[in-house]
Amino acid sequence: MKEFKRIGVLTSGGDAPGMNAAVRAVVRTALSHGVEVMGIYRGYSGLIEGDIRKLEFRDVSNIINKGGTVLYSDRCPEFKTPEGQAQGVKTCREFGIDGIVAIGGDGTFQGATKLTALGIPCIGIPGTIDNDITSTDSTIGFDTAMNTVVELVDKLRDTCESHARCNVVEVMGRGAGDIAISAGIASGATAIVVPEFHYDDDAIIGQIKTSRAMGKRNFIIIVSEGVGSDYGPALTAKIQKETGVETKFARLAHVVRGGNPTLKDRVLATTMGAIAVEELLKGHSNLVMCDKLGKIVPVDINYALILDRMYKDKLQDGDLDRFTEEDIENMKRDIKNRQAALARLYGISKTINL
Ligand code: ADP
Ligand code: F6P
Repeated sequence: MKEFKRIGVLTSGGDAPGMNAAVRAVVRTALSHGVEVMGIYRGYSGLIEGDIRKLEFRDVSNIINKGGTVLYSDRCPEFKTPEGQAQGVKTCREFGIDGIVAIGGDGTFQGATKLTALGIPCIGIPGTIDNDITSTDSTIGFDTAMNTVVELVDKLRDTCESHARCNVVEVMGRGAGDIAISAGIASGATAIVVPEFHYDDDAIIGQIKTSRAMGKRNFIIIVSEGVGSDYGPALTAKIQKETGVETKFARLAHVVRGGNPTLKDRVLATTMGAIAVEELLKGHSNLVMCDKLGKIVPVDINYALILDRMYKDKLQDGDLDRFTEEDIENMKRDIKNRQAALARLYGISKTINL
């Protein structure tokens, strides 16, 4: 079995609250096993450029509560090329890095699987507010982002109630409506618009009219950014025109990505960080840590990536070739379960949020 003397840890892609808690857990778990840890700064850019420093126990003090990532993050197009990846491997050899824990989203995992294939064993930890990694029930940062949306929408509701207004609020979530649906339910939104489910402006307008007739003064409409950046402002104008209710638009944008992680994200990140290191030191690699019904389970990165493509309807020719029939059946089952859970939540919001 491979002997690990020194591992690296990096954060990459969009930052997420809780990434620091994961870094802290990786560093301290590795040190407790007598393995040194190198912090790789700015994701794969830092790996290519050798922006790397040794991290000791106290270097990760007082970061469990902090948003963002102390290792910084970056999008590094060069790492998508064979030359960039070869340079990354060279840096690992120069710094004596025997394996890497990579914290990020599906792009980060694609980088990690390439590195593993080139002889640097990697393990991925899902860190993204979007919750768009299909193989895990929750990603690090998702809970904090939802709570931030709820806190901000509660404030908007106060002023909407005073002035009998409507507020259309756009929240992040690239192609995934998870933040919008849960935060929409928790903030009592009149309607929630996400790319996963059919939406109809006239139905939303009808809903506002019905609610107003029932005595409601404030109206919150949550829109996921995945439906397109023009949609929210256009819906705002349409609601005002057709209902006569004064309607404002708010794009929460990156504010939803910052802030101190919630308890749930800190625990999830800490557990995933610790188990990732244990798995790596056992000689396992090319895995992503997944939260399945509250238990942290390692899942093959390639399985996770292809499952994601299947879920997002982006499968390419040959993607399923390397998987057994059982794997494919499991993928279909995972997708069905996830879609059903999201549809159930969405359905509940439609029934009770008038
Ligand atoms: P996320 O990890 O949040 O999905 P990105 O999609 O931006 O964010 O990916 C983060 C980084 O991962 C990219 O900037 C790039 O350095 C690396 N990456 C993404 N796709 C690949 C790929 N196909 N091969 C190698 N590295 C990749
Ligand atoms: O993936 C996280 C995320 O915040 C998405 O919700 C959003 O679409 C995107 O990243 C924004 O990326 P950037 O930070 O490059 O503007």
